[in-house]
Amino acid sequence: MRTLDLFYVLCVSLICLNLSLSPVYAFYGRRQLRFNSEGRFKILQVSDMHYGNGKDKNCANVSPAEFPYCSDLNTTTFLQRTIAFENPDLIVFSGDNVYGICETTDAAKTMNMAFAPAIESGIPWVAILGNHDQESDMTRETLMKYIVTLPNTLSQVNPIDAWKYQIDGFGNYNLQIEGPFGSPLFFKSLLNLYLLDGGDYTKLGGFSYNYDWVKTSQQNWYEHTSKWLEFEYKRWPFPQNTTAPGLVYLHIPVPEFSLFNKSTEMTGVRQEKTCSPPINSGFFTKLVERGEVKGVFSGHDHINDFCGELNGVNLCYAGGAGYHGYGKVGWARRARVVEAQLEKTKYGRWGAVDTIKTWKRLDDQNHSLIDTQLLWSKNTTAEANFGFSCGSLLPRH
Ligand SMILES: *[C@@H]1O[C@H](CO)[C@@H](O)[C@H](O)[C@H]1NC(C)=O
Ligand SMILES: *[C@@H]1O[C@H](CO)[C@@H](O)[C@H](O)[C@H]1NC(C)=O
Ligand SMILES: *[C@@H]1O[C@H](CO)[C@@H](O)[C@H](O)[C@H]1NC(C)=O
Ligand SMILES: *[C@@H]1O[C@H](CO)[C@@H](O)[C@H](O)[C@H]1NC(C)=O
Ligand SMILES: *[C@@H]1O[C@H](CO)[C@@H](O)[C@H](O)[C@H]1NC(C)=O
Repeated sequence: MRTLDLFYVLCVSLICLNLSLSPVYAFYGRRQLRFNSEGRFKILQVSDMHYGNGKDKNCANVSPAEFPYCSDLNTTTFLQRTIAFENPDLIVFSGDNVYGICETTDAAKTMNMAFAPAIESGIPWVAILGNHDQESDMTRETLMKYIVTLPNTLSQVNPIDAWKYQIDGFGNYNLQIEGPFGSPLFFKSLLNLYLLDGGDYTKLGGFSYNYDWVKTSQQNWYEHTSKWLEFEYKRWPFPQNTTAPGLVYLHIPVPEFSLFNKSTEMTGVRQEKTCSPPINSGFFTKLVERGEVKGVFSGHDHINDFCGELNGVNLCYAGGAGYHGYGKVGWARRARVVEAQLEKTKYGRWGAVDTIKTWKRLDDQNHSLIDTQLLWSKNTTAEANFGFSCGSLLPRH
């Protein structure tokens, strides 16, 4: 009787706790994503589609033989194929989704075409902006306000508490991925995604080049959200001992990407220099301090597709997916997949995230899958920097 009573009280309080927390969930992020019954969650990142107005738009950097038959529609076909092959749980469009200036005069129509394969798949999808999206007839604000109205998207214009941070940009938000139904952790977020607006070009003078950066306001929001999520993860019921891993999606790479240029330091390739902001706004440092984020996934530099690890954070390029954006003849357009797998606890239930893996899908004849690698594993302690010696990192005076 006593145990039953206790059980009853526990269950009721669990339900009440859940109900009382729902406004908080709504406040800090959306909880509509969940690991599947196999304990897996898979994210497909599609970057730099540079969609124009469809079949009239020629492709950049394809062979002369392919040129007459290649248009934006090839990007659409690639996306359809990749979604069918990978069957992801979430699709992330990481900016430069549409192209501006002379390429389209109707950004809404172009976005409808560009996102169509995701919308038609019925899979939840999200988008953030790159530096080119606002170049036709919509501002960055109206672009995001339009995107959030499209079917099956979990995109947000900005977090509800944006006013508190006077947050810069449009398209800053957090997604929380809960444990599978039937697991004790079904109402805890086991994997946290942070999508950020890296801006386009700074309006400040005095820079020799002017890509924008992750602002202090955005970093403050990130830090606060991340601390709240850690608090939730570590508290009763089923308190966890560590923080849940996090992943960042951001169009323009943080300056630390430029540190990688030896093939021994990375998986994948560098074929052009990193076009990051002209100053370092400290976002990477913030991530290292928090210790939660295991990967930053960027686009922007279409013909780089590597991952390299620095201070426990993997810096990964997606590689360009769009035919209308620049590429390299003979080097297939591509997309990046990230898959998180939960651990089985001793009672056979799903526990925390055990491993995070990544690979790339190419739009070649065989739709090749390449460069599968383990990005992070729960059982590894913070590794030493991969392949760096002090001499290669520190400037010599
Ligand atoms: C683009 O699509 C057309 C039509 O399916 C195809 O013939 C062509 O080979 C594709 N081009 C590239 C570069 O994939
Ligand atoms: C957390 O750590 C404590 C003490 O080391 C241990 O008893 C407990 O089982 C751990 N909990 C989890 C969820 O790992
Ligand atoms: C290689 O990395 C160093 C910094 O570690 C940088 O100074 C140099 O410019 C890079 N080289 C290339 C070709 O990107
Ligand atoms: C594609 O696969 C076929 C059969 O496995 C193989 O013969 C061919 O070389 C592959 N082509 C490419 C471009 O990898
Ligand atoms: C740690 O994880 C790796 C990758 O999943 C696995 O191969 C290895 O056996 C694990 N080691 C321990 C001690 O659990």
